[in-house]
Amino acid sequence: MTPDASLRYGMTKLRLQLRFITPLLVMLIGVAYLTLPLMDKLTLRWFVRDLNLRDELIANSMADSIADALSVDDLPRLHAAFDRVLHDERLVALALCSRDGQLLVRTDAYPDSLTCARAATLSSEPNARFKVAGGRVHVGHHAVVSDGQHLAALVTLHDLSFVAHRSRTTKRYLVAMLAGLGILTSIITVLVARASWDDWIKGTRALLGGDPRAPAAADVAPELAPLADDLRARLRDLEDEFRRALGPEAEWTPDRLRSLLTTQLHGEQVIVVSNREPYIHEYQGERITVRRPASGLVTAIEPVMRACAGTWIAHGSGDADRAVVDEHDCIRVPPGTDDYSLRRVWLTPAQEQGYYYGFANEGLWPLCHVAHVRPVFREDDWARYREVNQIFADAVVREARDDNPLVLVQDYHFALLPALIRERLPRATILIFWHIPWPNPESFGICPWRRELLQGMLGSTIVGFHTRFHCKNFLETVDRYLEARIEHEHSTISHQNDETRVESYPISIAWPSAEQDAAQTSPAACRAAVVARLGLPPDARIALGIDRLDYTKGILERLNAVERLLEKYPQWQGQFVLVQIAAPSRSSLDEYRNFETRLREHTAHINARFGRDAYQPVVLVTRHHDQEAVTELYRAADVCLVTSLHDGMNLVCKEFVAARDDERGVLILSRFAGAAREMTEALVVNPYHIEETADALARALTMPDGEQRERMLSLRTIVREYNVFRWAGRMLTDASRARLRQRVEARVQRHTGLS
Ligand code: G6P
Repeated sequence: MTPDASLRYGMTKLRLQLRFITPLLVMLIGVAYLTLPLMDKLTLRWFVRDLNLRDELIANSMADSIADALSVDDLPRLHAAFDRVLHDERLVALALCSRDGQLLVRTDAYPDSLTCARAATLSSEPNARFKVAGGRVHVGHHAVVSDGQHLAALVTLHDLSFVAHRSRTTKRYLVAMLAGLGILTSIITVLVARASWDDWIKGTRALLGGDPRAPAAADVAPELAPLADDLRARLRDLEDEFRRALGPEAEWTPDRLRSLLTTQLHGEQVIVVSNREPYIHEYQGERITVRRPASGLVTAIEPVMRACAGTWIAHGSGDADRAVVDEHDCIRVPPGTDDYSLRRVWLTPAQEQGYYYGFANEGLWPLCHVAHVRPVFREDDWARYREVNQIFADAVVREARDDNPLVLVQDYHFALLPALIRERLPRATILIFWHIPWPNPESFGICPWRRELLQGMLGSTIVGFHTRFHCKNFLETVDRYLEARIEHEHSTISHQNDETRVESYPISIAWPSAEQDAAQTSPAACRAAVVARLGLPPDARIALGIDRLDYTKGILERLNAVERLLEKYPQWQGQFVLVQIAAPSRSSLDEYRNFETRLREHTAHINARFGRDAYQPVVLVTRHHDQEAVTELYRAADVCLVTSLHDGMNLVCKEFVAARDDERGVLILSRFAGAAREMTEALVVNPYHIEETADALARALTMPDGEQRERMLSLRTIVREYNVFRWAGRMLTDASRARLRQRVEARVQRHTGLS
C-alpha cells in the first residue's frame, strides 16, 4: 500500500471506531444524567423510613417511663431519659406533646418556634424539613401508647446532613462505575468492530474475487450476501448502461468488428483455440498444397480472425504442416494475405487417437448429438484428453503477450481448457463456444467425467451455445451435477470463486460483398457446368446435399426421402437428381466407415431401382470440395437439403441462401438443426418422417418462382443481418463488458483502500 493509501485506510478505521464509541458515550452520559437525581430521591426515602422506624422504637421503649412520669405528674424526670436518648449523634432534639397538643417536655436544642401542631403537620409530609440553627432537620411525630392507651406524642428532630454526604459518596461511586463500564464497553466494541471490519473486508475481497488470499465466496460471512447482491446488481446496471451507450443494432461488418476491437477492447490480444486448423498443408508428391478443411467452425472463425489479426492455435494435422512453420511453430495465413498468425500444436499419434478420435469423437460427439449412436468412454482416452488440453493451455500461456488476453476456446475438444488457462492467467477473459448441441442432464450424466468437464468449462468468463435451448440444458446440467449458484434471470453460474455467464450466440457466415456477388458466375452457367461435369440429364432438377460424411447429418434419411419421392411422384424419375457431396471425416473410426458403406449401398440401391441408361437419381461424391466448387453447386441447385438428425447450427443452409443472389432455389431444413429457429421461411421438416420430407421435396420442385423469391428474400435478409460478424461482435461485446466489470470491481477494491 502507498503511504497515502495507508493514511487513508488509517483515517477510515479511526472514523469507523469513533462511529461506534461516540453513541456509546452519549448513551452513558444520558444514563448518568437521568439516574443520579432518581437515586438521590430513593436513598432519601429509604433513610427517612429508617429514621421513622427508629423513632417508633424509641417511642415504644420510652412508653412505660413516660406513662409513669405522667401518672405521677413528674415530668422533669423525663429530662434525664431524653438526654440519654440524645446520645445518638443524628438525633438533634426531643420533645413530648400532650394529646391536646401542649408541649410537656423538651430537650435544650428543641426550637421554641416548633409547636406540637406544626410538628405533627411536618411529620406527615415526607419531604418537609424544619430549619434550626445547625441547618435543616427532619421532624418525626410518634404516638406514645401504653396498655393500649394513646398517652402523648414524641417529637424527634433528626439531622439529615449525613444523607447528603452519603448521596455525594454514592454519586461518586456511580459515576466512576459508569465511566469504567463505558471504557470497558468501548474497548470491547472497538475490538469487535475491528474484527468484523477485517472479516467484512476479507469477505468483500472474496466476493469481488480479486484476492487469491481471500476465502472462497461460499465461505464468506452470510451478512455480506445482501452487499454482494447489491454490488452485482450495480455492475449489471453498468453493463446495461454500457450496452445502451453502444446505440441501436447496426449491421455487423468486418469494419465494425475491427472498430469494436480497437475501441472497446483497446486492441487487446485475441487468441483463438480450436482443434481443427483453418489451413492444412499436405504433400502431393514433392509439392506442398494447402487445403481448407470441411468444418463449420473453421468457416465461421476464419473471417473473424482476418478482421482482428489475432493468433489462432490449432492442431497441426497436415503431413506438410511442420515443413512450413517458423521456429515458433507459426505461419501467417491465409496464404497470400497473411492476415493473422496460425500457431500449430503437435500431437503424437497416441495423443491424437485418444483425445481426438477417442474421447472427443467417440465419446462427446455422440453424447451431445441425439443421433442414436452410443458414446464410448475409455479411461485411456480420458487421460489423453486431459493431457492434450494441458498442452494447449501451455501453448496459450506461451502465446499470451500479457496476463489478460481474450481467449476464444472452440468446441468440445477443449472442455477442460478454460479452467487450465484460468489457473495460469487469472485475469484472462475466456470464452468457450460449444459448436455442437448440449444434451439434457440425464443424457449428459452418462459421461463418467461429467463433473470434471463442467468444472473445466466453468473456468470461462462466458460459455456460448447456438441456441437458448442448449443454454437451458447446460444450466440444468450444472444444477444437477455441481454445487453452484445459478441465477436464471441473468443466466449466470457462480461456482467456487468464479462467475460464468451462459449466453446464446447463433453462429453464421460472412455475408458476401456486392463485389463478390458481381464476380460470381451466373446460376445458369453454374448449372451448365455442374450438369456437364456430373453427367446429369440436361433438364435435370438438382437437389443438393453438402455435408461432412457424418451420421448426425441425416444423409441416409435423405436418401430414404428421395426413394419415396420417386416412388410416390414417378413423374420425377429421369429428371430429379440428388447431388450428395460428402466430405470424408474421421474415417479411421468404425462408426464413420460403416456409415460410408451404408451410404454407398443405399445409393446403389436407389440408382439400381430408378436409374436407367446414363440417368442416376443419386450422385454421391465422397471427396472434399473447395469453396469455389461448393458455391458453384449452390448456385446450380434447385433445392438444398439439410436434414441433420441433430445439429448445433449448420452453416450449409446459410451458405446456400448467401450464394443465391438470384433469389431462387428452395431450402429444405431439418427442425433439429439450430438454424431452423432463425430460418423459418425454409420448408422445415422432421427428417425421421420420410413421407414428410419426400412431400417437401415434391413441393420444392414445383414451387412457383414468386414464392421461391419471397422465401429466399426473407432468408437472405435474416442471414445477412445475423452474419458471423454479429456472432463474433456480440461475443466480443459481452467479453469487453466482462472486462469493464472486472475494471469496475478493481476500482471498488481500490476505493475501499484495498488495492
Ligand atoms: C463440427 C465441429 C467442429 C469440427 C467439424 C469438423 O462442426 O463442431 O469442431 O471441426 O465438425 O470435424 P473435424 O473432426 O473434421 O474437425
